[in-house]
Amino acid sequence: MRDETYDLSWDEWDELQSPRSEETDFDEVVEVALSRRGFLSGVLAFGSGAAVMGTGTLLSTTSAEAAASRFGFKPIPIQTDFAVHVPEGYSWDVLVRWGDPLFSDAPELDHTTGGDVAHSDRIFGENTDGMELFTIGSRQVIAVNHEYVNTKVNLPQNEDGKVASADNVLKLQNLQGVAVFEVAEGENGWSVVVDSPLNRRITHNTPMTIAGPAAGHPLLQTPDDPSGTEVLGTMNNCGAGKTPWGTYLTCEENFNGYFGSTDEAFELPEDFARYGIKSESRYNYEGYDARFDLSKNPNEPRRFGYIVEIDPTDPEAKPIKHTALGRFKHENAATVIAPDGRVVVYMGDDERGEFMYKYVSNGVYTPGGETSSLLGDGQLYVAKFEVDGTGRWIPLTPATTGMGEAEIAIFSRMAGSKVGATTMDRPEWVAVNPVSVEGYCCLTNNKNRGIKTNAGGDETPAKGPNPREANKYGQIVRWFPADEDHASEDFTWDLYVMAGNPKVHSDAYAGSANINEGNLFNSPDGMMFDSTGLVWIQTDGNDDNEGEFEGMGNNQMLAGDPVTGQIERFLTGPNGSEVTGLTWSADKRTMFVGIQHPSAPFPDGEGKLPRSAIVAIKRDDGAMVG
Ligand code: FEO
Ligand code: CA
Ligand code: CA
Ligand code: CA
Repeated sequence: MRDETYDLSWDEWDELQSPRSEETDFDEVVEVALSRRGFLSGVLAFGSGAAVMGTGTLLSTTSAEAAASRFGFKPIPIQTDFAVHVPEGYSWDVLVRWGDPLFSDAPELDHTTGGDVAHSDRIFGENTDGMELFTIGSRQVIAVNHEYVNTKVNLPQNEDGKVASADNVLKLQNLQGVAVFEVAEGENGWSVVVDSPLNRRITHNTPMTIAGPAAGHPLLQTPDDPSGTEVLGTMNNCGAGKTPWGTYLTCEENFNGYFGSTDEAFELPEDFARYGIKSESRYNYEGYDARFDLSKNPNEPRRFGYIVEIDPTDPEAKPIKHTALGRFKHENAATVIAPDGRVVVYMGDDERGEFMYKYVSNGVYTPGGETSSLLGDGQLYVAKFEVDGTGRWIPLTPATTGMGEAEIAIFSRMAGSKVGATTMDRPEWVAVNPVSVEGYCCLTNNKNRGIKTNAGGDETPAKGPNPREANKYGQIVRWFPADEDHASEDFTWDLYVMAGNPKVHSDAYAGSANINEGNLFNSPDGMMFDSTGLVWIQTDGNDDNEGEFEGMGNNQMLAGDPVTGQIERFLTGPNGSEVTGLTWSADKRTMFVGIQHPSAPFPDGEGKLPRSAIVAIKRDDGAMVG
């Protein structure tokens, strides 16, 4: 049985923070106007000719055998158990778990105490998320996010896992952030190279530089940092990205949940509401660490919500927060080079009714050339989708928004509202196809679609790429840049897939034509393309396997063919967990996948604490897996 005594996932906690304006019985929700078939026809009519949604049409022009052979695995059924499952002919093994030492001075995890504070920044942190693998000389190094903590797991001796001391807070701060560590494959499979000179932990207290248009702005100045350019830590690191010049991008998502006020009379500044910053925090850092006390440091939360660049080749290198990439609940960062050499970074803001963004550098990337200004000097855009299948990236400038450049960087959500950006169904990971000029974004779900505005008062009509009211299953939108140039302002778009449940629904909630009883899932979240152009989709959704979610089983990872629309299930995670984070070994013979917030008994067995982990997956015949 799943042990229910552990904490809520961040999404579950967030759902409690953001109740609907009123309870709406699903049956009373306004019916989506078009039947499933009609919906598809509509999208087909609007979509670009080359990019038809669903498999029905395109599979008839492609041999089914050829399509099937692209996957290289036999799809697996759903599971409801507490293990990881992969297809026949593949095997998995744990690479590293929360609490495993990165340095030999740290002890193995003590399952009674959850580990001591003194070594909490010398071990693999909790809740693994986005990751990338870097080849540095002869070494392979993984940089990975530790998104948040489940305090009942980390502080098992505290009542309800509540923090009760400054040491408890420091321990939680140390278990989050980023880990950088070397890995190696030996006779017994992959393992961490303990004490590698490249191993590093970055926590909520690691010094970093604030760069870009908002650096030094009065809104970023604090009593401890009157310069507004030096900040401690990065938090709620969700998805990730890598640059062509070999650095890691970590993305600050739900930073709002870490700040609170010890003074009940403190009036929250107006801009806090749009970012969900409230006087109560999730972990009560503010009770023990004044930096997180809004009544003492009202500017501190304005120093979070950015993308941070980390150099994995130098453990002493100071991370850089890039304000030019905007401030919102950053999910991940997909970087691609435009034909003229400019750097394009696609980004999503994971909030109900918030926006999708992209950044285009002013300078151009040349291999081996100067890269220091490429993420600091450029133009931020926000996406506007039209129902006719076209769309545009609207530049966020003083002229288009009436805001200053620093204000656009700090209050990007407000800037997006000013130009009429399209409110989206919680943009999670963005991915760029390496073999075709197209981008994809997971729109995970949105209970408020068609029911409630976003926190800025922008309407959320059910239409365009967000077509279903109270969207509970999610969809993946993709766009095709004009002139095959990711720096273009214009694009066309379609939906690659709408998740749904044809066992339960016969309307748009049945999903698109490439959903069938063999590949059911909900809430697409993590997403990466492999080098062959297959898109890997990871889920973070309802895993009760009941009612509307019957037949979907545990969270999972599927592979999709962008050309045919075919989607097949490759992996299932333990019940209670989210599957998030994906990268490959340098030789592409191993796939590393993250298992976040599992419940007991994963992976150490009954009576042990549940441990978030990265698993290594190989084909038994040693062939490439991506
Ligand atoms: Fe941390 Fe939006 O997922
Ligand atoms: Ca999550
Ligand atoms: Ca996510
Ligand atoms: Ca999610």
